[in-house]
Amino acid sequence: MDGMDHLMPTYRRHLLLARGEGSYLEDTAGRRYLDWVTGIAVNALGHRHPRVVEALRQASERFLHVSNLYRTEVQEALAARLSRLTGLDRVFFANSGTEANEAAIKLARRFFAARGEPDRYEIVSVRHGFHGRTLGALAATDKPQYHQGFGPLPPGFRRVPRSDEEGAFQALRAAIGPQTAAVILEVVQGEAGVYPLDPEYVREVRRLTEHWGALLIVDEVQTGMGRTGPFAAYQQVGVQPDICTLAKALGGGLPLGATCAREEVAQAFQPGTHGSTFGGNPVACAVALAVLDVLEEEGYLGPEGRISRLAQALGRGLARLQAQGVPITAIRQAGLMVGVDLALPASGVVAAAEEAGLLINATGPHTLRLLPPYTLSPEELEEGLAKLERALAQAAGQA
Ligand SMILES: Cc1ncc(COP(=O)(O)O)c(C=O)c1O
Repeated sequence: MDGMDHLMPTYRRHLLLARGEGSYLEDTAGRRYLDWVTGIAVNALGHRHPRVVEALRQASERFLHVSNLYRTEVQEALAARLSRLTGLDRVFFANSGTEANEAAIKLARRFFAARGEPDRYEIVSVRHGFHGRTLGALAATDKPQYHQGFGPLPPGFRRVPRSDEEGAFQALRAAIGPQTAAVILEVVQGEAGVYPLDPEYVREVRRLTEHWGALLIVDEVQTGMGRTGPFAAYQQVGVQPDICTLAKALGGGLPLGATCAREEVAQAFQPGTHGSTFGGNPVACAVALAVLDVLEEEGYLGPEGRISRLAQALGRGLARLQAQGVPITAIRQAGLMVGVDLALPASGVVAAAEEAGLLINATGPHTLRLLPPYTLSPEELEEGLAKLERALAQAAGQA
């Protein structure tokens, strides 16, 4: 019997991994792969970064868990750090992106209920957006195949066209009104295939939410922690949300999510209104602080930071590949998040890349997503590009 026989078949997978180091993963047969999936934007500093591993070791010598009935210095230090980095005042800790968004949606509704407006519960989200798999976050997610068979989803959700779609700005004006509790959006849609929203669209959402007294939730689960260059992608478009959510790279590989909010909004959560057994686990918080120390002390963030410089080199390399006539039809890039549209099925390229020793994934039938680690060296970048080129040529030959 195969070990897979006891796992619910939620994922199609076959690689059996044994260990990781830096930019590489190794399988049980000893084959090495350059990892440009990075746990879907989790292992931003590569695998087993020494400062992260050391923080984990030290934290594990204190305790592995304490209840949120008690305070820990490490959780409070992380909340203060996230508050400074996001420009928001208070943090609720969860364990994943979907939970962080679930908390954000609940917080928005609770905020209006506490102000005597319980009927103001509508959550507006953007077409093609992805916010997670729990029922609330799923209701805000616009992927029909993820909804199928799970109904009824909670009511009170509506969707607006994305900024590149017909009538997007008029639709915003029609959808956001006195019934709106919050708009939730990704500044760069990740699971959709890396689609940066038009910054003017994001600013229009901010203007409209302010006009109607509604809240703006920015989902930075995939884009946050520097993935697009600044700490959070909204900082690039000059918008300050009322709530932002983080997860993925925050925990440095441990499960950790965060919902950050400005003071007045955060006060809608009082003792007993929301909670989590594991959220803000002390070991995960210590690791998160180590990740943030590396990002801030080693010059990763900002327009001149290491992430932005590596992103430019990656962009130049991909443009070079495209100019050589490989079957790439479009490249969308936001820092170290890249969507690559292909003139052939993406699954064949993913398989050929794996054979060549490069891990990438597909977000759609013809779209690849590249999420390399921020720590990638210039040599590893060239190695990845060469492997991608080979994979594209091989898949094109077979197609
Ligand atoms: C933007 C965004 N929000 C939410 C989620 C859900 O996060 P999780 O899988 O940790 O629940 C994801 C995951 O891909 C995401 O990309």
